[in-house]
Amino acid sequence: MADLSIEFCGIKSVNPFWLASAPPTDKAYNVVRAFEAGWGGVVWKTLGEDPAAVNVSSRYSAHYGKNREVLGFNNIELITDRSLAINLEEITQVKKDWPDRVIIVSLMLPCEEQLWADILPLVEATGADGIELNFGCPHGMPERGMGAAVGQVPEYVEMVTRWCKTHSKLPVIVKLTPNITDVRAPARAAKAGGADAVSLINTINSITHLDLDQMVAFPIVGGASTHGGYCGSAVKPIALNMVAEIARDPQTKDLPISGIGGIGNWRDAAEFMALGSGCVQVCTAAMLHGFRIVEEMKDGLSRWMDEKGYQSVSEFVGKAVPNTTDWKYLNMNYQVIAQINQDDCIKCGRCYVACEDTSHQSIAQLIDAATGTRTYEVIKEECVGCNLCEITCPVQGCITMVPQDTGKPYMNWTQDPRNPRAEKVTETA
Ligand SMILES: Cc1cc2nc3c(=O)[nH]c(=O)nc-3n(C[C@H](O)[C@H](O)[C@H](O)COP(=O)(O)O)c2cc1C
Ligand code: SF4
Ligand code: SF4
Repeated sequence: MADLSIEFCGIKSVNPFWLASAPPTDKAYNVVRAFEAGWGGVVWKTLGEDPAAVNVSSRYSAHYGKNREVLGFNNIELITDRSLAINLEEITQVKKDWPDRVIIVSLMLPCEEQLWADILPLVEATGADGIELNFGCPHGMPERGMGAAVGQVPEYVEMVTRWCKTHSKLPVIVKLTPNITDVRAPARAAKAGGADAVSLINTINSITHLDLDQMVAFPIVGGASTHGGYCGSAVKPIALNMVAEIARDPQTKDLPISGIGGIGNWRDAAEFMALGSGCVQVCTAAMLHGFRIVEEMKDGLSRWMDEKGYQSVSEFVGKAVPNTTDWKYLNMNYQVIAQINQDDCIKCGRCYVACEDTSHQSIAQLIDAATGTRTYEVIKEECVGCNLCEITCPVQGCITMVPQDTGKPYMNWTQDPRNPRAEKVTETA
């Protein structure tokens, strides 16, 4: 049986599944039930200065798929709306009752060193395992000079991280905003400030949809709206890329990463870990489906690890990082071609339309003159192996992309004679 326990920047956890800082972790009542359900840790809903933040009504909206499944989730909530004293009291009690579970305290304060120096000993006294600096909240708090307003300026990230390392012995996890051009800059700054780890992503600036009668976006607050923070399944590809960027960066490659963004099942979690996340955090999936989703995560990961022969999580953390490279190091001589399994094909023609109108024109539509029956066949010589037909085909496995034996050796763009600006090869993939 695979061992799911981990050690993340010195913090031991019974499994790599933590709840991210958000409503599911905003009070003892929730956190206790999360631990009972099996979560290895929580990042407590962000604490700030008193008086506590005040929220508006309504607060959430969603981007739906055709069957009303929630693809992306948007919120305009602020940090905790309960007093610092109540939160600290509850954290102390829960940590005492659940010593083997991780509690990280998320913090957001203005950029004044004394404020940090004052709060950090109070947090340390709760017995919490670490702190997470919320430099990512994209709505409400940036207008007050906090959250993403800090995370978007690497100098501020470094400065506040250093204050926390100076005034606390707890491990410091810096939570990064995705609302930035190059996420490596704040990650490097966090490292320079002494961060023990980074976590990402926080939410992405978003407007999900509008009420076209009232001419206002959702969520509606008395006839007006504002942009919110986007999360849930739809943000996973963005988060995965940002995690990989940091894991691949020579300056931050050894910095532990807690991966967040659209994680809803064990496979999502395994993907984040393969790209360098030592643990993962979950918010939207737990909000939509409840704490018990962790059961599938633990079972699924454990079974997959047994199947693959991984005895501990650390054996596969970062394993996909060396295979994630710059475009210029991809093999120009690699070739795949689409192949349609005629037995599975339901003759819907979607692959044909997609290939035809995306200008590859590599699928032939053959119509039997007598019966009118249609058949779709790949024109091998024309196929560029783009995957579009495989993506658009409604029958899973009906179209496969088959690697061709070109007989040619590995050659990347820096070595390619077709490259008019061929670079000198100074490094390889
Ligand atoms: C309603 C809501 C409130 C949130 N509040 C916080 C917060 O207080 N502090 C924080 O660091 N992140 C907060 N987040 C962001 C989440 O912790 C997480 O980074 C983000 O939702 C992406 O993860 P997900 O796709 O699993 O939801 C909040 C997210 C939601 C949906
Ligand atoms: S892989 Fe691309 S080019 Fe080839 S048949 Fe499919 S859609 Fe056309
Ligand atoms: S999309 Fe798939 S099922 Fe539809 S015609 Fe093409 S191969 Fe057949």
